[in-house]
Amino acid sequence: MAKAKTSFVCSACGYETARWMGKCPECGAWNTMQENVQTAVETVAKPLKQRAGRGTDAVRIQDIEAGAQTYESTGITELDRVLGGGIVEGALMLVGGEPGIGKSTLLLQVCAALSKKGKRILYVSGEESARQIKLRAQRLGADKTELLVLTENAMDAIENKLNDIRPDYCVIDSIQTVYRPEMASAPGSVSQVRESAALLMRYAKENGCGIFLVGHVTKEGAIAGPRVLEHMVDVVLYFEGDHQHEYRLVRAVKNRFGSVNELGVFEMTGDGMHPVENASETLLSQRAKGASGSCVLCGMEGSRPMLVDIQALVAQSFYAVPRRTVNGMDNSRVMLLLAVLEKRGGMKMYNRDVYINVAGGMNLSEPAADLALCVSVASSYKDVPIPADWAVMGEVGLAGEVRAISRMDRRIAECQRLGFSHILCPKDSLQRLIVPKGVTVHGVDTVAQALAVMDLLPER
Ligand code: TYD
Ligand code: MG
Repeated sequence: MAKAKTSFVCSACGYETARWMGKCPECGAWNTMQENVQTAVETVAKPLKQRAGRGTDAVRIQDIEAGAQTYESTGITELDRVLGGGIVEGALMLVGGEPGIGKSTLLLQVCAALSKKGKRILYVSGEESARQIKLRAQRLGADKTELLVLTENAMDAIENKLNDIRPDYCVIDSIQTVYRPEMASAPGSVSQVRESAALLMRYAKENGCGIFLVGHVTKEGAIAGPRVLEHMVDVVLYFEGDHQHEYRLVRAVKNRFGSVNELGVFEMTGDGMHPVENASETLLSQRAKGASGSCVLCGMEGSRPMLVDIQALVAQSFYAVPRRTVNGMDNSRVMLLLAVLEKRGGMKMYNRDVYINVAGGMNLSEPAADLALCVSVASSYKDVPIPADWAVMGEVGLAGEVRAISRMDRRIAECQRLGFSHILCPKDSLQRLIVPKGVTVHGVDTVAQALAVMDLLPER
C-alpha cells in the first residue's frame, strides 16, 4: 500500500499547499482550503500528451484567416441570447448552478432540439441512470430522438466513446462525477475536475465538438466548485434564482464569442424550462397594487431592458441597532443610500428597521437602481404609495446628486410598452433624447428634488 500524501487545495482558485490555511494566499478567499488525499505512487497524473516540439511559427495577424464565426442555434431562444447567438464549433461551455436548479433539464432540452436538427449528440451522465434520463426526456417530450445516452464516470471510457461516436455536441453531467482512474484523488476534487476538463477541452478543440460541462455550485464549497474551471473554458453560464421562485435566470459571466452579462429568463414548469420572452410583464404580474414601498425600475440586463419592482418596508425599530435586511441588491450599496436619504432627504433612519426586497428573485447590480430604491424607501417611510404608472431610475451619489445613466432610450421604450406613462430620471440623461408620445419624463438633479416630485419629502 503506497503512502498517502495529503495536500490542501483552495476550492475557489485551485491553489495548492502542504498545510491547511484559513485564508487562501492566492485569491484571498476564506475557509476554502479542502483536504486532498493522494496516494504517493499515483500522485503524478499522467501528463496530457504534450504537443511541444511540433513548433508552430508565429504568424502576422493580418495574414490569419478568421473566416466567419458561425453560431449553431440551440433551439431555445433565451439560451441563444445568452450564448451570443448560439453554440460555436469546438466551444467548451461550463454551465454552473446549485443542485436542482435545472441544469440537466435545460441541457436535455438543448440536446433534443439539436438532435431533431440531425446533429449527433452524446449525453454523458455520471449522476443519473439511463432510465431516469429516459423518464425525464418523456416529461420534456424529448424521448423520440436519436440522442445517445451514456452513463459513465471514468474519463478514459468517455474519451474512447467520444472517439467512436464522434458527436457534434456533447454534454458531461456533471464534471464533478467524472474522474481519471490513473489519479488517486477522489472524483470531484480539484485535481480530478481540472484534469478531466483539460482532457475534454483538448478533445473539443481538436475535433470541433461543442461540449457542455455541468458544474454544481454549493453554498459552502463543493470539493471543487466550477470556479476552478472558469479560466480554461470558453463560456461560463450560471443559473441564478432560488427554488421558491419558478423563474430561473441564466447569465453569461464569460463568453469568448459574445458579450457577457446577457441574461436569459426561464420558467420551470411541469414539462421543462420555458423561455420567458416578455420578462418585464412576468416580473411585474404579481405586483401589489396601491401599496406603499413599491417602486418600479427599468434596469438593463446586458442589452435587454427589464422592469423590476423594488420593495421596501420601513418600520419602527425595537432593537438597539436597527435591522437592515436586503434581498437582491448589494448590502453596502443600500446602506449608503439609506445614509444619503437620512442626510439629504431628511429621513430619520436611526430608529427604523429597513427591509429591501427585489421581487421575482432578481439580483440588481446596476447603479441605475439607486433612485428607485430611494423612492421606494421614502414611499414606505411616509406610507404613501407610488402611482402605478410611474417608473423611476437613476444613479445616486453621496452628495445626493442624481447622475446620468446609459441607454435611456431603450429603458423608456420598455416602460412605454408596458403602459408606464411617467418616468422619473436624471435630468442629464434627457439630452438629445426623443421622448415617445404619451410618456412624460420628469428630469431631476437631486434626490430631494425626486422626492419632492413624488410628494415624498418628510415634514420637518
Ligand atoms: P435538474 O435539471 O435535475 O437540476 P440540476 O441538474 O441543476 O441539479 O432539475 C431538477 C428540478 O427541476 C427538480 O426539483 C424537478 C424540477 N423539474 C420540473 O419542475 N419540471 C420538469 O419538467 C423537470 C424535468 C424537472
Ligand atoms: Mg442534474
